[in-house]
Amino acid sequence: MNINNVKIFDTTLRDGEQAPGCSMTLREKLKISQALNDLNVDIIEAGFPAASPGDFEAVKAIADQNLGATICGLARCNEDDIKKVYQAVKGSDKHRIHVFVATSAIHREYKLKMAKEEIIKNAVSSISLAKSLCDDIEFSPEDASRTELSYLAEVVSAAIEAGATTVNIPDTVGYTVPAEFDRLFQYLNKHVRDIKKITLSVHCHNDLGMAVANSLAAVNAGARQIECTINGIGERAGNCSLEEVVMAIKTREEYFNLSTNIKTERLYPTSRIVAGITGIQIPRNKAIVGENAFAHEAGIHQHGMLQNSSTYEIMRPSDVGLSKSNLVLGKHSGRHAFRKRVEELGFPCDDEEINRAFKEFKKLADAKKDIYDGDIEAIMMNADESSAGPWFLKSLKITSNTGELAKATVCLMDDNGNEKIKSSSASGPVNAAFQALEELTEVRLTLKKFDLHSPTIGADAQGEVSVNVEHKGQSYRGAGTSIDIVEAGSRAYLGVINRILRRQKQGLKSRPQNNNIHHAPI
Ligand code: KIV
Ligand code: ZN
Repeated sequence: MNINNVKIFDTTLRDGEQAPGCSMTLREKLKISQALNDLNVDIIEAGFPAASPGDFEAVKAIADQNLGATICGLARCNEDDIKKVYQAVKGSDKHRIHVFVATSAIHREYKLKMAKEEIIKNAVSSISLAKSLCDDIEFSPEDASRTELSYLAEVVSAAIEAGATTVNIPDTVGYTVPAEFDRLFQYLNKHVRDIKKITLSVHCHNDLGMAVANSLAAVNAGARQIECTINGIGERAGNCSLEEVVMAIKTREEYFNLSTNIKTERLYPTSRIVAGITGIQIPRNKAIVGENAFAHEAGIHQHGMLQNSSTYEIMRPSDVGLSKSNLVLGKHSGRHAFRKRVEELGFPCDDEEINRAFKEFKKLADAKKDIYDGDIEAIMMNADESSAGPWFLKSLKITSNTGELAKATVCLMDDNGNEKIKSSSASGPVNAAFQALEELTEVRLTLKKFDLHSPTIGADAQGEVSVNVEHKGQSYRGAGTSIDIVEAGSRAYLGVINRILRRQKQGLKSRPQNNNIHHAPI
């Protein structure tokens, strides 16, 4: 049996990052790009360089690592965008320019105000320009699933003739259904002469919850590249989820007769890294990587599982990198055991990071009896923020009484050991602590969202707090962890304050976190 390979094109850093509240710092993007490379994705779409100087720098920094995966950047059909992508991605031995233009009647009439022929001309000249810079060119007719089939075939034919090596068919608004999408691909196979000469790709959004099903319909009909994101993050309801589509192909290999290059045992750690960085928590019942994905509660299921795990389990937890043991480490565990567990959980880290995380682990082990994998993951997720000053939380004292204002006394310390202390009273302990932090640092924030999540079980479980705030009209996100939820919130808040202060010191204008670039500048 000849098994065909499907390329996995990850767009977590481009389409995923465009989701509200998902934008990332350069450091976070680099970390995710390394995790994606370790996962062995074929192509990393690192961003949209023309969207802002920050986006350009991030794509360039990712490409300059020369990780091994192909690094791709997105461009509209214009000279400036295309040249910017080339400048940003060329540092990677394997690089790709991805150009797109909308083709559906609704986009032609209301967004582009361009006629059909004009769009084809624009696409052809842009692909030709991109081709003069780089061999690997992807073209996407945006809103393809709502484009007239005969016109779509015409556009795709022209794109191939102009030099596109991959043609991607996006279901931009998540509108199609599997049988209809299958017909669209069959139509293109039949009506586009040179379609066999290029890689046909699929890019689905999840507005009706069918992004994975539609992507699978496309590969069944001949697509050999799937565009997807970790945890399915992305515009609106998100994109096709990488972990779901990859495990569907692997688990039902006899049906699809396809394979991918993904190291599936890296799926769970990668999912945790992306959730930790974006603050978008994974629902418990999420397929593949949710907490309940491999949990069996019903007695009858447990009985079956004990006889033979395949009674109720179609994948092994270890296939996706879930090798959780319940109670892992304790107060007396040494650095070596800690490092080993961190690595088993899939966190790549250097000595400096391990040393910092080990100190946090020791503090936690003093305060909490049982240390679970979730605790270690939480420490690793926050290792970056808690180590970057200028201010560090030295102590936090809270007094609160029913019916009275809460009082927070916060002590901050800087790199040189200088301390500042402030007490504030407000309607609740979190409010009082945040007020004290603002007064101490003279950075005023508006809190937009406060999310609390517990990564493990038990009354002494840690709290992971993620905050979304606004500063001078721009959005920021921060995360913090502690067994004291006010302290976790304060760490998250201070993380944002520190980021703003660092940028002010560098003389940089703060970068907005919600630069919704997808449709705005097109
Ligand atoms: O959803 C979409 O159409 C896109 C394209 C730019 C590929 O993200
Ligand atoms: Zn998209």
